[in-house]
Amino acid sequence: MPETAIRCEELGKRYRLGVHESYKTVRDVLSAKLASPFRPAKSVAKNHVHLWALADVSLEIKRGEVVGIIGHNGAGKSTLLKILSRITKPTRGSAEINGRVGSLLEVGTGFHPELTGRENIYLNGAILGMRKSEIKRKFDEIVAFAEVEKFIDTPVKRYSSGMYVRLAFGVAAHLETEVLLVDEVLAVGDAQFQKKCFAKINEIGKDGRTILFVSHNMAAVRSVCREALVLDRGRVVAHGAIDETVDGYLAQVSSEVFDTVETTSFTVKKVEILADKSPIIKTFDAAQVKVRFVAKTDVGDPGMYVSILTPDSRRLTGLDFKDFANAAPLRAGETCELGFAVESLPLLPGAYQLEIHLKDMSRGLVEIVPHAYRFEVAETQVYGGRKLDSWFGNIGLRAHAFNGSCNGAKAKTCSN
Ligand SMILES: Nc1ncnc2c1ncn2[C@@H]1O[C@H](COP(=O)(O)OP(=O)(O)OP(=O)(O)O)[C@@H](O)[C@H]1O
Ligand SMILES: [Mg+2]
Repeated sequence: MPETAIRCEELGKRYRLGVHESYKTVRDVLSAKLASPFRPAKSVAKNHVHLWALADVSLEIKRGEVVGIIGHNGAGKSTLLKILSRITKPTRGSAEINGRVGSLLEVGTGFHPELTGRENIYLNGAILGMRKSEIKRKFDEIVAFAEVEKFIDTPVKRYSSGMYVRLAFGVAAHLETEVLLVDEVLAVGDAQFQKKCFAKINEIGKDGRTILFVSHNMAAVRSVCREALVLDRGRVVAHGAIDETVDGYLAQVSSEVFDTVETTSFTVKKVEILADKSPIIKTFDAAQVKVRFVAKTDVGDPGMYVSILTPDSRRLTGLDFKDFANAAPLRAGETCELGFAVESLPLLPGAYQLEIHLKDMSRGLVEIVPHAYRFEVAETQVYGGRKLDSWFGNIGLRAHAFNGSCNGAKAKTCSN
């Protein structure tokens, strides 16, 4: 087996803006050829605006590496995985994989909707070049892992999205592939199944198989991967050991320029949340929230409410400026910065957003800033021991443990 599992050289993928290219799996191509062998090639209109979803990506991944691929929406992560799994072709450059590839992507997972779960497992195995007897050996493991025993002879188009993903993951993880490409899909299943998938990915990683794992969940990436690769506008901007690469990415995200946002009475110039002592925010850090805005009209009694939300917009807590202080009146055109110094931010590792309301209390005016500011709390050993994941919820408690008297023994106090 060669040492290198994946090698990309000057890889580029160009899309036409506003035109969504549809993907074809091996199965689609085969069935389309059978249905209409002489269909002419589509003509391509000229003078379109193009976008390089991937631009000049060169990288090498060694066999047995488990690599997290991170980056903003639209950075090119899925495009890279689609090229590697041959769902789409690169516009230029080359991508080479040594070994059989299993993929679990947001599109073209590789199931035929009309076929049953059982038939799809055999079809996927056959596409990978496995013998029937080999697939048979893996079959029970896949079905048990995916927990779809009762539905194994039902066409997968009748599956719920959770069942579909469970079976897809079971197939990708258990069939004999040397390289596994996983794109964000784990977010679909329930929390318990996600845990099972992470455990399986960890196991596969230790087995010497190569994994590329795309996710926006930094805690998951840290727990599963040994190295990370950051994509930004189609380019690789960092590639290195997991913790320092993820920390670097989070620090860069939090220092990004805020685009001006307008409400009826205010122009919001900046929203930021920063830890006092470090470029990344960790649980219990002292932090500052600042909002800078320009008043479009006279504001007699400026006010602000800042709340912290989960990514699915559940409000966790909030602070109202008026509960702490009064701000001086503003004339139209004047700039104002209001903020809070938070002594200890009790958020556990994960993704959050700030929601801002700006006010003029003299007129009873409240305007919601129509843009949520995203930020991350980095994964750390919150209580000095193991790292906590999302199972623990969102809020950390400052606490110490004590050992009450037991069988007359003296009580002991422990803290970290
Ligand atoms: N099939 C397509 N046709 C046209 N443009 C596309 C297509 N797929 C992706 N793009 C564009 O290419 C760029 C990269 O997209 P890609 O899906 O690879 O990003 P991503 O990093 O996976 O983002 P996300 O985190 O949102 O999943 C985006 O600007 C996207 O709009
Ligand atoms: Mg994507």
